[in-house]
Amino acid sequence: KRPIIMDCDPGHDDALAILLALASDKLDVKLITTSAGNQTPDKTLNNTLKLLSFIGVTDIEVAGGAPKPLVRDLIIAEDIHGETGIDGADLGEAKFAASNRSALDAMRDVLLNTKESVTIVATGPLTNVAILLNAYPEVKEKIECISLMGGACFGGNITPAAEFNIYVDPEAADIVFRSGVPIIMSGLDVTLKAQLFQEDIDRIRHIGNKTGQVMAGLLDFFNLSNTPHFLAEPGHVEGLHMHDPCAVAYLLDPTLFRGLDCYVEIETSGRLTTGCTVVDYNRVTGKPANAKVLFEIDRARFADMLHAAIKQFV
Ligand code: BDR
Ligand code: CA
Repeated sequence: KRPIIMDCDPGHDDALAILLALASDKLDVKLITTSAGNQTPDKTLNNTLKLLSFIGVTDIEVAGGAPKPLVRDLIIAEDIHGETGIDGADLGEAKFAASNRSALDAMRDVLLNTKESVTIVATGPLTNVAILLNAYPEVKEKIECISLMGGACFGGNITPAAEFNIYVDPEAADIVFRSGVPIIMSGLDVTLKAQLFQEDIDRIRHIGNKTGQVMAGLLDFFNLSNTPHFLAEPGHVEGLHMHDPCAVAYLLDPTLFRGLDCYVEIETSGRLTTGCTVVDYNRVTGKPANAKVLFEIDRARFADMLHAAIKQFV
């Protein structure tokens, strides 16, 4: 089993990314750390504990991360993920407590104490990962790669140029993309194609387990809040964008995806473009690639993968 650390900000699609990882016999989730992003840090931490409790997994360490981005104020996505950060279903109460160590300490210990190298899956702003790389650069050689959801080669979703996770903490993203650790970037180029349609959501609802019902409730809420207005034209059926599960799905089956090795830099001080992942798509800089940027996904197989994962739970 491939050891992984998940750093996330649940978040509807983060929740699904967690389920996808936990359902797989290919991945060993050693630790979950939470970032501030979709909601405030207390809420993303509590949502993670609630989700794990709901599916009866109470033996994974969950550690809370930095309260805010490295240098900026926190921006949250309450309009998309609701007041709780995971509106749309009742997960019940958390049945276990968060770790008494910080995300930073827990990440470092897992990296240094695991024999094999560990993959980090990051599906929120990159604050915690950047703090780790800065504080303990020696852990870099224990990181197999960072599979992250963030950025875009073409176009943003929080500004015309920036994707939410990178925009919230561009300084952190800059540290991560300069770190030398191999990066798999599931940006909007691919995640806007990773869609679930109404029939996929209904198929999840009717699996016959309570996880399927609750996830369908979450997806219904996300579906209403998430569809970009410009796509809401008559006759156009736009599915629900499953951003974060892409970062896990790539690890489970890279043949679902097509990507390009590219040199990527983060804009931290643009007049219009702060938080943009500047992807050297046309290879004009001559600089060596630091990320595999994903562009295409086999949507149908991806939807089947999510369905099969949710089926594994109670
Ligand atoms: C990203 O932003 C969040 O709202 C989602 O959870 C995802 O990680 C998409 O831009
Ligand atoms: Ca997220």
